Amino acid sequence: MKPVSVIIVGAGGRGFVYANIAKKHPELLKVVGVAESRTYHRRKMAREHGIRADHVFRSWQAFARHPKFDDIDAAFICIQDAMHEKCAVALSKLGYHILLEKPMAPSAKACQRIVDAMRASGKMFSVCHVLRYTEYTETVKKLVDSGIIGEIVNIDHHEPVGWWHQAHAYVRGSWRNEKDSSFMLLAKACHDVDWLSFIVGKPCRRVSSFGSLSFFNKAHQPAGAADRCLDCKLSKKCPWSAKEFYFKRLADPKQHGWPLDVVDPTFTKKNLTKALREGPYGRCVFACDNDVVDHQVVDFEYEGGVTASFTMTAFTPMGGRRTRIFGTKGTIETDDSSTIRIFDFLTGKTETIDTNASGASMAGGHGGGDGGIMDAFCTAILENRPELIVSGVDATIESHLATFAAERSRKTGRTVNA
Ligand SMILES: NC(=O)c1ccc[n+]([C@@H]2O[C@H](COP(=O)([O-])OP(=O)(O)OC[C@H]3O[C@@H](n4cnc5c(N)ncnc54)[C@H](O)[C@@H]3O)[C@@H](O)[C@H]2O)c1
Repeated sequence: MKPVSVIIVGAGGRGFVYANIAKKHPELLKVVGVAESRTYHRRKMAREHGIRADHVFRSWQAFARHPKFDDIDAAFICIQDAMHEKCAVALSKLGYHILLEKPMAPSAKACQRIVDAMRASGKMFSVCHVLRYTEYTETVKKLVDSGIIGEIVNIDHHEPVGWWHQAHAYVRGSWRNEKDSSFMLLAKACHDVDWLSFIVGKPCRRVSSFGSLSFFNKAHQPAGAADRCLDCKLSKKCPWSAKEFYFKRLADPKQHGWPLDVVDPTFTKKNLTKALREGPYGRCVFACDNDVVDHQVVDFEYEGGVTASFTMTAFTPMGGRRTRIFGTKGTIETDDSSTIRIFDFLTGKTETIDTNASGASMAGGHGGGDGGIMDAFCTAILENRPELIVSGVDATIESHLATFAAERSRKTGRTVNA
């Protein structure tokens, strides 16, 4: 069978993640096109995948001006959040299958327009809620559905964003500012809201939320700190110093990937220095134009009274999600989104399952979820099996609407119906 032929729209971090999976799994997918506005990234993608010149575009808009190409089956939309809607609607109208990076779009209305366009096109559609496709999630879902812990009563779920990850992406980086990207709960934790909704398996009815940008602001800039880390005499004592953080990674070739490649994809001292001198990633974390929260809690109530509490925080090491699922017959727990402990009230015994042990994941990103979604989406197209896509239109709009409701609650201080 011929693999799915794909155009990568936005050859940045995520675009290359999926394209690299294509290199490892030529039976599933082949990258035959690229639409990317940055010259270095566009050329790199075209070179690495031997893309024909007439399938290389400087923007998604330039690609969308052509009628559907017969030799391109699907578009992987990996541009920034605020650009998703127009691109997804235009490419779905042209008749491409669409894999769309999360979040769908920064507003409920924009999400609905994407949903309407995909329903009208009838093509395969998946949002990259990659956590649904990990062996860990599949195992938890099967355990819950088997009734091993009885009925779920409530869930306690933590997303440890991580101190340096927050600084990199949500203080200095692309998701720092709601106006230019989306609010933090949507940008970072729509995965978690979606995961909870998948595991509970019931519609969310009400949410309430609190949270703020408490630390990464001018009021916390130490006396004597410079606005650029390269000029700062406090950098050796500052855990947030861009100079210390990125140059340490430059010195270690094993770390020549994310997040350093976002700042300097060439991995040279000269270019990194220039990027930190002039670009967004060299700024003091207390002197940026960021406005998204650095911590947030959300309480959810689902149909039938099941509840969940969610915490997202910057102030922690970065790590796997930590979860406690409390059932009427027992509990399911993890501290790393990998090793699952199941406690049985009747026997008082704990069984442990290591979902990393089998090595079944096609690729490591997001605990195998990046590989898992490629497998599901491409196989769905190749074998005409839409049921393999568990992050389609209906599932995504439901969990996105709960995310928007939570943010409304945070902003208004009221409990909001989802
Ligand atoms: N599924 C996940 O877990 C996950 C993880 C990280 C990011 N994301 C999402 O993936 C998307 C991309 O994130 P990223 O980290 O790859 O960002 P990125 O900035 O690295 O990549 C986006 C690319 O789009 C390009 N671009 C901008 N305008 C364009 C246009 N008009 N036409 C074509 N290309 C254009 C940019 O030059 C850039 O290379 C975002 O929506 C983000 O929220 C998802």
